[in-house]
Amino acid sequence: LRCVLQEFPDLADRFPEFREQRLVVDYDDADDPVLRRADGATVDTWRENYPYSSRMSRDEYEPLKRLLQIELLKLQYWIKDTGGRLVILFEGRDAAGKGGTIKRFTEHLNPRGARVVALTKPSDREQGEWYFQRYVHHLPTAGEIVLFDRSWYNRAGVERVMEYCTDEQYERFMRQAPTFEQMLVDDGISLVKLWFSVSRAEQRTRFLIRQVDPVRQWKLSANDIKSLDRWDAYTMAKVAMFRCTDTEIAPWTVVKSNDKKRARIEAMRSVLARFEYADKDHDVVGEPDPRVVGAAATLLE
Ligand code: ADP
Ligand code: AMP
Ligand code: MLT
Repeated sequence: LRCVLQEFPDLADRFPEFREQRLVVDYDDADDPVLRRADGATVDTWRENYPYSSRMSRDEYEPLKRLLQIELLKLQYWIKDTGGRLVILFEGRDAAGKGGTIKRFTEHLNPRGARVVALTKPSDREQGEWYFQRYVHHLPTAGEIVLFDRSWYNRAGVERVMEYCTDEQYERFMRQAPTFEQMLVDDGISLVKLWFSVSRAEQRTRFLIRQVDPVRQWKLSANDIKSLDRWDAYTMAKVAMFRCTDTEIAPWTVVKSNDKKRARIEAMRSVLARFEYADKDHDVVGEPDPRVVGAAATLLE
């Protein structure tokens, strides 16, 4: 797929850093396309602040992913057998890789007992309800895993930055979220909060690919376009969110996701490492890579 920026005037305006360039979306790895310049060099914005000098190769990724997916199934059986309830929040900036990671998490899980919740913007009815109400509706029953593709944290991020909520609603959320989560945890729900962290230039590269790739265009929302020039506002919102909601009972785990494959693998490890489920293969799960996954305080500057 060729992408000659000059042929898309609004793209050229939106992405001045690529303005003079003839770019090609390279589908060698259809799952994970890259931008290539006319001289063949790849746009490697993923290197920005990244602890490795190469991305995980497909050959390394595929077998690891498969083994970890088998472990996720064992975790699912164990949750079913023990009547546990697991909630995993996938949060992060636009194009951070939440959706792609969720897809790999659920690829081989039994859909009976594992659900993805990706809510659209609140309806008029929901606007009139208690903020947490529509999320509560989707919490798991005994034996279930629920993966939230975005979550109640919308109010701390997109709603704050795009001014979809009032200051008062925002402040109330920041006060109440830890209490709300305390209630879930006290009731026996396991709550995992993952923050996918993407750097600014890499986010822009992913947006550009979304814009020209027919199978990705749906992922590029009006909000994404608006967020292009709101990086700093999102950063402030994120810092405030961690300050208020990175609690002892419900801490955040940051996943550095400029390398999507490594992020997916390490996110799986991070979830699996928390549970002593039946028949666990400790060699496969190991410990999450501390250069890529960790507590907010260790990985966010
Ligand atoms: P995506 O999750 O694909 O990045 P968007 O960027 O369109 O989707 O929206 C981000 C989040 O903001 C979604 O969870 C969406 O429901 C929420 N959202 C969008 N518009 C509004 C709105 N007017 N009020 C509250 N939330 C909104
Ligand atoms: P996130 O956690 O998604 O906000 O991503 C933050 C990542 O982007 C971290 O790796 C930061 O070091 C990096 N980062 C933040 N601001 C900038 C910037 N202005 N230029 C380059 N990298 C940045
Ligand atoms: C995101 O916006 O983070 C997407 O859901 C992740 C992706 O699939 O790239």
